[in-house]
Amino acid sequence: MSAHLPAGRKVRYGGDYNPEQWPREVWEADHAAFDLASIDTVTLNVFSWATLQPDEDTYDFALLDAIVERAVAAGRDVVLATSTGALPPWLAHRHPEVERTDFQGRRHVYGQRHNACPSSPVYRRLSAELAGRLAERYAGTPGLVAWHVGNEYGGFDGGCWCDLCAAGFREWLRARYGTLERLNDAWNAAFWSHTFSDWEQVVPPNMLSEHWRGPDHTAFQGITLDYRRFMSDAMLANYRDEKERIRAHDATTPVTTNFMGMFRPIDYHRWADDLDFASWDNYPPGQREHARMALAHDVVRGLKDGAPFWVMEQTPTITASRDVNPVKRPGVLRLWSWQAVAHGADAVLYFQMRQSKGACEKYHGAVLDHAGRTDTRAFREVAALGAELDALGDAVLGARTPARVALLFDWDSWWAAEMTDGFNRHARYVDTVLAYYRALWQAGAQVDVVPVTVDLSRYDVVLAPMLHVLKGDVADRLEGVVARGGSVLASYWSGRADVDANAFLMDAPGPLGRLFGLRVEETDSAEPGVTNPVTLKDGAGDDAVAAASLVFEVLVPQDAEVVGTYGAEFYAGTPAVTRHRPGGHDGGEDGGEAWYVATALDDVGVAWVVRRVLGRHGLVGPYADTDDVELAVREGADGARTAFVLNHRSDAVDVAAHASGTDLLTGRAVVAGETLHLEPTDVVVLREDPPR
Ligand code: GAL
Repeated sequence: MSAHLPAGRKVRYGGDYNPEQWPREVWEADHAAFDLASIDTVTLNVFSWATLQPDEDTYDFALLDAIVERAVAAGRDVVLATSTGALPPWLAHRHPEVERTDFQGRRHVYGQRHNACPSSPVYRRLSAELAGRLAERYAGTPGLVAWHVGNEYGGFDGGCWCDLCAAGFREWLRARYGTLERLNDAWNAAFWSHTFSDWEQVVPPNMLSEHWRGPDHTAFQGITLDYRRFMSDAMLANYRDEKERIRAHDATTPVTTNFMGMFRPIDYHRWADDLDFASWDNYPPGQREHARMALAHDVVRGLKDGAPFWVMEQTPTITASRDVNPVKRPGVLRLWSWQAVAHGADAVLYFQMRQSKGACEKYHGAVLDHAGRTDTRAFREVAALGAELDALGDAVLGARTPARVALLFDWDSWWAAEMTDGFNRHARYVDTVLAYYRALWQAGAQVDVVPVTVDLSRYDVVLAPMLHVLKGDVADRLEGVVARGGSVLASYWSGRADVDANAFLMDAPGPLGRLFGLRVEETDSAEPGVTNPVTLKDGAGDDAVAAASLVFEVLVPQDAEVVGTYGAEFYAGTPAVTRHRPGGHDGGEDGGEAWYVATALDDVGVAWVVRRVLGRHGLVGPYADTDDVELAVREGADGARTAFVLNHRSDAVDVAAHASGTDLLTGRAVVAGETLHLEPTDVVVLREDPPR
């Protein structure tokens, strides 16, 4: 799955620029300001369909011509969007089929954006036509570096449930199952008398059919799981429609669309092959989300097998869509931008370059505010970062992350686990993944976050938190990791369901049981806040007590060794954490290990386990014991290593430099072991000296 990124000489800097919303005099001021901030790349034309095509038979590119010309004349590179993320009013008025039917079953009328019915033939025809005409007109434009199809596919409630989608779903099911017998089997249709005798009897699962209380409560997980897969594929077909038409006129310019990191409605792994390079919009839900952002960067980097990606959007100051929208504190924009670069971003772009005058994003932060001032704190910070990125030049462009640790991320598991009745609705997939990722992150391990299909032979450690659905030969491949001396860790609820979300007719954790040397006999649950102490013993005297919550599997070890035990409940004294050495307990250093964590341990417990797993492979990083100091490394094709040391703390900290090299931001020589003083939000970009 190779990536094809826009060529460049430095980490790209700029963002969404929508000058169609303000008079031309302002454009001049905009470009003059962009020069002050080292802005080299603008994304144009994200939401202009109504102007580009005022009615079904008329196209008018005059305004866009002028915008593109002005940007190119100013020396800016251009990412050209296709404008199909928001419908023009005439289209919905003339062809109501382009509007979605929501999860409640309500047919929508005109309004908002990101809400076209993906199955509408009219939408598919006209969106592809527009993309084709744009490509015909602008292919070959000097400075055109990428195509940006649509915008943030997925929309407000993740899909459409109209009759056109129902027909599309039936077609998708026919292609997947071939016969109704296989469909009925996959859906376990004998339950509640659901045996389908005609494809036409199949309807989309929503609040009018299989669901109650919302998207996570379905009578048939198999039906809802397939609908999510279908909807993800239906939107992918929209993207493909446009890409194909672009390619008819422009054979080479890379094509992408902006993802949303860990976004549940779309399985980005199903899309990855169709992107030339991956990009995403980074809007963390809180102010102290550094591990979550790192995880999302790694998820996106994992889409293209570790190739660099772009941050297509981030806000320079505030978002507008939250109930409370705090400003980014001084230094935070810089810190988070360098974090993105550290995790593999070759572009750091904003939404947006100038603040909108009206509508719901008029107070959303921008590089330039309504007054166009360049003497604001935000602009100064933007400009200072622009200068740093200029100075960095091509030092890390194209460089990859040398990871020995893989974390499996799986949309099917996410979907299936969170729509499953029984157990505990408070135990969430991303929370669980993040708990393990956070421990890896704090330990300074470089991590690839990858789909379950990836080649695991290049990793020493593989983590499978809540790998609820087991697909293909993943169980065998995990066994392979341990067989060659690696370590595997899985958490509760792993190995519970097959690709159709049906339970395996065997002990949990299903086909993983052999690897972990145990079986799960019962699964207890408790309300949030109720904890059970788990005592962890490593045999070396470094014991700990962690609080377990939410889910408590009662294990029967077969030949797994007990590492942690529950302290309360009728299962007090029984195992909560186990380690299995399939080669035998005295298999020596070379034998691999399979760790199983049967409950939701708190951060102390997860860190205790993860440190031991990493420690065995020498993968605990040099700053692991300094909370919230992050180390991320990129390695060029020539082997040159650039280490990013990032202080996410709110206080200053001193650490001992892990390597000798040159701080690329200051030019200062650093000697291994010397004290690195990091102010709050500080960053050191250390080009390490080559090993002697
Ligand atoms: C993104 C979107 C942009 C803008 C931004 C505001 O999700 O792609 O168009 O709306 O959010 O934060």
